[in-house]
Amino acid sequence: MKWSVPLLLLLVVLMAFGIRGCATSETHSMRPPSKIDQKVNQLLSEMTLEEKIGQLNLRGTSSRTKVLPDSLKQAVREGHIGAFLNVMNSDYVKELQTIAVEESPHGIPLIFARDVIHGFKTIFPIPLGLAASWDQQVVVDASRVSAVEASAQGIRWTFAPMLDISRDARWGRIAESPGEDPYLASVLAQAYIQGFQGDSLNDPTAMAACAKHFIGYGAALGGRDYNTATIDEAQLRNVYLPPFQAALNAGAPTVMTSFNEVNGVPASGDEFLLDQVLRKEMQFDGFVVSDWNSVLEMINHGFAADQKQAAELAVNAGLDMEMTSRTYESYLMTLIEEGKVNESQIDFLVANILRVKFQLGLFERPFIPAHLDGKIYSQEHLQKAKNAAIKSSVLLKNNNQLLPLEKNTKIALIGPLAHQAREQLGTWTFDGEAEASITPLMALEEQNISLTFVETLSYSRDKDKSAFTKAVKAAQESDVIVFIGGEEAILSGEAHSRASLNLPGAQEDLISELAKTGKPIVGVIMAGRPITINTIKQHMDAILMAWHPGTMSGPAIYEMLFGLAEPGGRLPVTWPKTSGQLPLFYNHKNTGRPVNPEKFVQMDSIPVGAWQSSLGNTSHYLDVGYEPEFPFGYGLGYSRFSYGKVHIDKTVIKAGDSLRVSVELTNIGDRKSHEVVQLYIRDQTASLTRPVKELKAFQHIDLDQGSSTEVVFWLKKEDLAFVNRNMEKVTEPGLFNLWVGADSSTSNGTSFTYE
Ligand code: BGC
Repeated sequence: MKWSVPLLLLLVVLMAFGIRGCATSETHSMRPPSKIDQKVNQLLSEMTLEEKIGQLNLRGTSSRTKVLPDSLKQAVREGHIGAFLNVMNSDYVKELQTIAVEESPHGIPLIFARDVIHGFKTIFPIPLGLAASWDQQVVVDASRVSAVEASAQGIRWTFAPMLDISRDARWGRIAESPGEDPYLASVLAQAYIQGFQGDSLNDPTAMAACAKHFIGYGAALGGRDYNTATIDEAQLRNVYLPPFQAALNAGAPTVMTSFNEVNGVPASGDEFLLDQVLRKEMQFDGFVVSDWNSVLEMINHGFAADQKQAAELAVNAGLDMEMTSRTYESYLMTLIEEGKVNESQIDFLVANILRVKFQLGLFERPFIPAHLDGKIYSQEHLQKAKNAAIKSSVLLKNNNQLLPLEKNTKIALIGPLAHQAREQLGTWTFDGEAEASITPLMALEEQNISLTFVETLSYSRDKDKSAFTKAVKAAQESDVIVFIGGEEAILSGEAHSRASLNLPGAQEDLISELAKTGKPIVGVIMAGRPITINTIKQHMDAILMAWHPGTMSGPAIYEMLFGLAEPGGRLPVTWPKTSGQLPLFYNHKNTGRPVNPEKFVQMDSIPVGAWQSSLGNTSHYLDVGYEPEFPFGYGLGYSRFSYGKVHIDKTVIKAGDSLRVSVELTNIGDRKSHEVVQLYIRDQTASLTRPVKELKAFQHIDLDQGSSTEVVFWLKKEDLAFVNRNMEKVTEPGLFNLWVGADSSTSNGTSFTYE
């Protein structure tokens, strides 16, 4: 959904007066009712309380459901269910919807939901990979294709995008995240909404997006899934909320709560988060859905004594729809009778849900229109998936320009992910099909590349070294070794955190053995997270991070290996040397003793029996130091660029001014290439300490070899703002540093003052 100008104006006015602009029921509504609101209110006035409670229930079926149980159909008939997830048989979708619209008391249509995360049938790179593209168009394409394919099965609601800022690669769900940076995540959030929802929610190919998980799920302690998050309020507002605000601004009509507690209160029962922050401040006027059983889990958290209290807490906090657990269904009636929940609150929640059903056009068009075929696996979709895989891949190392390879290079293709059609799809691909995937082996064979394939390890955790000799022999008889390994899909994603991030199984040993042949090695990593490679990095002359690239992995990797395409990705997360460094992120605070290369004392240089002293040490580890393996924003291309000095058009700016920032960019390599020019700032001194660097803008630039261009950015007061201790968004006067470069480690900078 795009914002029309009048709608935007209305929003601005509402925000200016701090008015809640979200509800239609008497107690909550503060805005003039729209036509849809009128319909919602009319319907609400006719519904029984039982039916209203029914709208709040999201019921699941399993993909393995063979026959729709009669009890389920009866529940729909009686108006006890508002939405379904995971109904994957379109005949069942039709059957349930027919009962809902023809037999239930008010004929209210159901919404069918699914986790369509990075593709439905045509699978795109995992979201962390899409984030590595730093490219809105790539994300729009991925989510549009997902919506076109899934809506043709009757799925009009997706549980995506996941917008959890993630700074700890041990957490398995980093694979589903937009990475560690609030600015990049916000830019991509908008693109996801635009793609999923198209021009209007009312379009039958639009899927309502669901911004999840609200909030702080990515801050799980120690990267252990579902764990507690402790986030001070300013940090919540400066780091975790912005991507959600961007999604709401772009029109996301639903939000999912997170499993975790934030500062001691489970998100699904947190009135402050759901009512004060989300509805009142962020002006959200869609509906909030719980995560799977997360209402019930408030008992385990130690926040609700029993199911009844869990329902009371969630409803009063403003959680509209309960996913899978059934505390609303079981206890809301009694809670209302007892006066613990007001019926007006139920009206408010139901109105939020009905409004989205109207916006989706489900009342006029509850069934899949006959002409929708989803274009599943169409050439157009496959091309977009291949393009996304290329734009998401990050070239981490390329010694002596080993890549791209010459067409007639003889390859030894080795490794557990070179020909794993299912694994290359990654996490959350219930509908993706291995049979439709093209693996690297398949793509190289199709191109008649001279190769010997020795898989050697049959899955990423495989420890069986019996095929090592065969692999070494193949390597000796080849010009270049292409090793494709990493993590199987199941090693990342929900509930799949890892403490060590090394290549699992015997992969490291295999690479070390192959290195002894003296043949150059190209390492292609497919994984759901950064993999620590500090012990084997030196064995690989080129390293290409492909994430889990999806259906078109093979053709994309072929084109990148042979230079028909250039890897376009930049890291959306800081890449650690070892998991002991985690959490690790570029936009950290400075501390009183920031890292100082000159003061670094490596562990082995500490004298034996040394007297206790800080040795002048700063905030770092004695053994691994202070640097990541690769910084946030990093990624190579097949050419090289040089950056001129950063120019600014004034050294002092005031409110209302725009600062012109420019830099001369030159392609000094020997082929046309692509660069992602990144602008970072630092607010040197503030009433609340600010990060050492913050991404504020970036641009994609294509340049022919030898040519130059001036890259221009404009910075405004708002770009310098942050939320202070009083929870006010402010730009404080003082000195700002500014850098423009190829990644977050750039030192190409200048400074200016804001007065
Ligand atoms: C996940 C959600 C997902 C839901 C429904 C939960 O386990 O946390 O992200 O949308 O399941 O499948």
